[in-house]
Amino acid sequence: MARSSGRVEKVPPGSFLHGPSGIRYEVTETGEVRDAGRVPRKLAWFVGSGAEGTSYLVENEGSLFEAPVTWYARKKRWDMSPGYQGDRTADWSRAIEPSCLYCHASQVTPVYGTRNRYTDPPFKQGGVACERCHGAGSEHVASNGKSPMVNPARLEARRRDDTCRQCHLSGEARIARPGRQFAEYRAGDLLSRFVSYFVFDTAPGGRPLETNSHVERLLESRCQQASGDRLWCGTCHDPHRLPAQPAAWFREKCLACHQPDPCRRGPDCASCHMPRSQAVDAGGHGVFTDHAIPRRPSAAPRVSAAGRPWKLRPFLPEEAGDREMGLAHAELFGRTRDERHRREAMRLLGPGVRVE
Ligand code: HEC
Ligand code: HEC
Ligand code: HEC
Ligand code: HEC
Ligand code: HEC
Ligand code: HEC
Repeated sequence: MARSSGRVEKVPPGSFLHGPSGIRYEVTETGEVRDAGRVPRKLAWFVGSGAEGTSYLVENEGSLFEAPVTWYARKKRWDMSPGYQGDRTADWSRAIEPSCLYCHASQVTPVYGTRNRYTDPPFKQGGVACERCHGAGSEHVASNGKSPMVNPARLEARRRDDTCRQCHLSGEARIARPGRQFAEYRAGDLLSRFVSYFVFDTAPGGRPLETNSHVERLLESRCQQASGDRLWCGTCHDPHRLPAQPAAWFREKCLACHQPDPCRRGPDCASCHMPRSQAVDAGGHGVFTDHAIPRRPSAAPRVSAAGRPWKLRPFLPEEAGDREMGLAHAELFGRTRDERHRREAMRLLGPGVRVE
């Protein structure tokens, strides 16, 4: 996580032809991108350590935009960024809003009142800094160690879980509470004081595997349902010792609760009970681990466009009212143009509010 973002110095050079637009993109080692012979663009910042992929940001007069090209680590090649595959022209105009950087960088410096302007540099620290999980280190040092540093593992369950959820929970929509901002959250707080999260209201197992859905999937697991607050992300992951651990590391975590070995089908528990599969939202490139811990390995369900879920429920029941739910539907309408979201948004937000 500490390597999740930073300034571009060197990239693997390469090129590819994008079918639908007929454009050939060429990327040089210094991060210059040529498309259809125009002035080259300069990749300024990277986002994503590259376990699966790395996104790039370009700068234009202090504003940040997403590059249409992404480096896909598994295939070791450049290709269109997720969501850009169908484009007919080269699109360098998608704004990078602060929410993107709050999850991938630390001490982000947005210019308030703008959509995607930042002071230079746009973040003072790349990746996930200590304070994102431990609270302000400066206070700890200034007080000679007397002002306590937050230890997530010792917080009550919801505050503990929220230290990971601030970045590992996306939901379908994330709505700021009245007068609040996501950026104000600090480790140890309750996330729901700042934002409400909404997910699709589908039957358990009915949600497709998405890139950032570990939180939701784990809640669907029998392990979580039957052991409640005893199980959290930190049961299996040590955030100081990422990335990937060997199979024996996870086996030991499983056996802490499952004694004696309940199935004797082999030592690599996760390979069968936490199968890896494609995420629906990663442009066909990302492979992720299913945290629903199914009894029988099966590919994660996919939802067809026709059967696309649209009803929402608050992720934590006590945290949202009609205002938040209405705004969540409005956001989804903006993204999907699905009329059902618009009708629901107007119903909840009341007459006089236009949803466009
Ligand atoms: C400030 C945001 C942030 C916070 C807080 C955060 N994460 Fe992450 N985490 C990320 C990002 C971003 C990635 C993806 C890194 C990448 O590949 O670019 C990640 C990756 C991971 C990975 C996969 C690492 C790998 O290399 O495969 C694990 C496991 C993980 N985080 C666990 C946790 C746990 C447990 C917590 C809470 C104690 C937590 N994270 C809190 C942002 C965060
Ligand atoms: C709510 C927090 C959140 C937001 C917002 C978010 N991401 Fe992520 N992103 C993550 C986490 C967590 C992961 C790691 C997921 C995993 O490994 O399964 C990730 C993974 C990635 C990866 C793959 C990293 C790798 O190592 O393979 C890329 C690239 C990426 N994000 C780019 C972006 C960009 C660009 C934006 C904004 C336009 C964005 N993300 C918005 C949390 C977020
Ligand atoms: C993604 C979240 C995350 C990040 C980032 C993180 N930590 Fe931690 N840290 C934890 C968790 C969770 C624990 C508790 C582990 C446990 O006790 O099981 C912990 C425990 C600790 C402890 C032991 C505290 C105690 O009271 O025993 C120290 C010291 C520590 N971290 C220092 C750091 C430093 C220094 C950094 C930055 C280089 C850092 N951590 C970054 C999540 C994080
Ligand atoms: C914090 C304790 C805990 C941990 C850690 C844990 N589990 Fe579980 N798990 C449970 C409990 C409790 C149940 C429910 C047992 C029951 O219903 O008899 C369960 C149920 C299961 C089931 C049955 C699922 C079903 O749908 O019937 C499987 C399979 C499973 N766990 C595998 C694993 C694997 C693999 C790991 C490690 C990657 C793991 N568990 C880690 C507590 C845990
Ligand atoms: C029961 C054990 C267990 C728990 C609990 C758990 N994970 Fe994992 N996680 C795994 C295993 C196993 C992998 C696969 C590791 C590998 O292949 O190296 C993994 C991989 C990941 C990855 C890397 C991307 C991917 O999908 O392969 C991320 C990110 C992650 N976990 C986040 C989380 C978060 C956030 C939580 C809490 C909501 C969590 N995990 C809880 C076992 C667990
Ligand atoms: C080769 C694949 C494989 C491996 C490896 C594996 N399992 Fe299983 N596991 C299964 C299958 C298949 C079942 C039975 C499902 C059924 O009968 O419905 C099962 C059943 C279970 C159950 C439910 C048992 C019950 O009676 O309710 C648990 C819990 C479990 N496994 C945990 C683990 C743990 C912990 C490990 C690692 C020590 C592990 N499994 C390794 C495939 C595997």
